[in-house]
Amino acid sequence: MGKVGFGTAVGIAVVTCTVAAVVVGWRLRSRMKWKRVVGVLRELEEACGTSVSRLRQVVDAMAVEMHAGLASEGGSKLKMLLTFVDKLPNGNEKGICYAIHLGGTNFRVLRVHLGGRRSGILRRDVERMPIPQHLMTSTSEDLFEFIASSLKQFVVGEEEKDSELSSVSRSELGFTFSFPVKQVSVSSGILIKWTKGFSIADMIGKDVSECLQQAMAKKGLNIHVAALVNDTVGTLAVGHYNDEDTVAAVIIGTGTNACYFERADAIIKCQGLLTTSGGMVVNMEWGNFWSSHLPRTQYDIDLDAESPNPNDQGFEKMISGMYLGDIVRRVLLRMSRESDIFGPSSSRLSTPFILRTPLMASMHQDDTPDLREVARVCNDVLGIPDVSLKARKLIVNICDIITRRAARLAAAGIVGILKKIGRDGSAGVAGSRTKAASSGGKLKRTVVAMEGGLYTNYTLFREYLEEAVAEILGEELAPFVTLKVVEDGSGLGAALLAASLSFISTDT
Ligand code: BGC
Repeated sequence: MGKVGFGTAVGIAVVTCTVAAVVVGWRLRSRMKWKRVVGVLRELEEACGTSVSRLRQVVDAMAVEMHAGLASEGGSKLKMLLTFVDKLPNGNEKGICYAIHLGGTNFRVLRVHLGGRRSGILRRDVERMPIPQHLMTSTSEDLFEFIASSLKQFVVGEEEKDSELSSVSRSELGFTFSFPVKQVSVSSGILIKWTKGFSIADMIGKDVSECLQQAMAKKGLNIHVAALVNDTVGTLAVGHYNDEDTVAAVIIGTGTNACYFERADAIIKCQGLLTTSGGMVVNMEWGNFWSSHLPRTQYDIDLDAESPNPNDQGFEKMISGMYLGDIVRRVLLRMSRESDIFGPSSSRLSTPFILRTPLMASMHQDDTPDLREVARVCNDVLGIPDVSLKARKLIVNICDIITRRAARLAAAGIVGILKKIGRDGSAGVAGSRTKAASSGGKLKRTVVAMEGGLYTNYTLFREYLEEAVAEILGEELAPFVTLKVVEDGSGLGAALLAASLSFISTDT
C-alpha cells in the first residue's frame, strides 16, 4: 500500500471511529434520557399506588369524616349538607314540571310530563346548551339573565308545540344547582362557594332560588321554584324512582360528589330534626374530602397551588374530569423538560388545561396498533409532532396510572358511604348475616345510582372503579352491591322532586 492509500485508510478509520463514537455517545445519551423518563414514570406509579389496604384506609377515613361532618358544623372538610329532602319520589308523581340544571360545562332545560301511579315518565323534552365561558366568571345578574332567557325561549317553544300549556297559570320548576349550597329549605339555599372553574364573587352568600325567581320575573315567566337540589340529590331521586333499593348517588363528571339517605337521629348537628320519613338526604360534598391516606403527588400539589381554589376540593382534584387531563399534562411537561423524548419542547404543553380529560381518555383507550389517536392528540393539541411509538406507549401508561388512581379512590369513597350506613359488611359477613337474619335471613341488596360523563363515557375508568369496589368489599359481599347508571338523573330528578313536593303529586 502506498503512502496515499495508507493515509486514506487511516482517514476512513478515523472518520468511522468518530462516527461510531458519536453514534454510541448519542445512543448512550438517549438511553440515559429514556432511563430518566422511565424513572419519572416509575416514581409516578409508586406515588399513585392504590393497594387494597390503602383503599381500605381511605374507606375508614371517609366514614370517620362523615361522622365528624354530621356531628358539628365545620367538624370536617366534608360539609354533610342538609337537603330537606326527606322523602324520595315513589312513582305517584303526576303532572308537568320544568327543570333546569346548572352544573359543569352545560346548562340544560327540561319539561317532564309525569304519568303518576307508576305509569312513569310520559314525555321529556330536553335542551342542552354550553355555558358561555365568560359567564362563569362574570356577575350573578349576567348568569341568571342567561338562565332565565334560555328558559323563556324553551318554554315559548314548548307552548307552541302544546297549546294546553299556555293555559296553565303557574308552572312548577325544579332547579338543579351543582355547587355547595347551604339549604334553608327544600326550595331555597345560599351558595357557600364555587367549584369547577366558576367564580362569580357577588354570588357567594346569596340565595340561589331568589336570584332565579327574580330573573324569571323580569322575563315575565310565571314559574315557581319548588325544589332547589344538588345534582347528586336529583340522581338519587331518579335512582330511587327506578329502584327502591337505591340508597346513595354519586356523580363523577366535571366535578365529583355524593349524597345518601341518612337517619335523622344520626344528624347530630341538627338535634331534634323532625322529618316525615325519619331520615333525610345528606349532600356530602365529598369533592372536598381529605385524608393523609390519599396518594398525593407533586403534580397534585402544583395543580392545587395554581388553581383558583387552593387547599379546596382535594378529592375532586384527584378524581374528576375537570382535572385528570391536566395531571397527565403536568407529567408530560416534566418528562419533556428532563429529556427530549417528545422532541423540542412545545409551549402548548405548558398551557394549563390544554389537555382536556375526554382527549386523555381517547389516548388511553386508543386501540390502534400504532396508537394513531395518541399521535393525533400529541400533534393537534399538544403541538408535539412525530412522537415515537415507544413514547406513545409511555403516554398511554401515564393516562392509565392517573385514571386508575382516580377510579379506585372514587370506589373507596363509595364503600366509605356503605360503611357509614352499615352496608359494607364491616361487622364481617357473618355479622351482617346475623343482622340480616332478623330481616328475613338475606343480605340486603344495595344500589348506588351513578351519573356523570367521566363514569358513563370513560369505559376504562368505569371498569377500574367497579373492579375496586368488588376488591374492597370482597367476593361474598360484592354481589349485593350494584352500581347503576341513572340517565339524566340530575335534570330529571329535580323535576321529580318538584312534582313530589308540590300539589301535583298524587301520593296517598
Ligand atoms: C360540586 C358539587 C357537585 C359536583 C358534581 C362539585 O364540584 O361542589 O356540588 O355535586 O361537583 O357536579
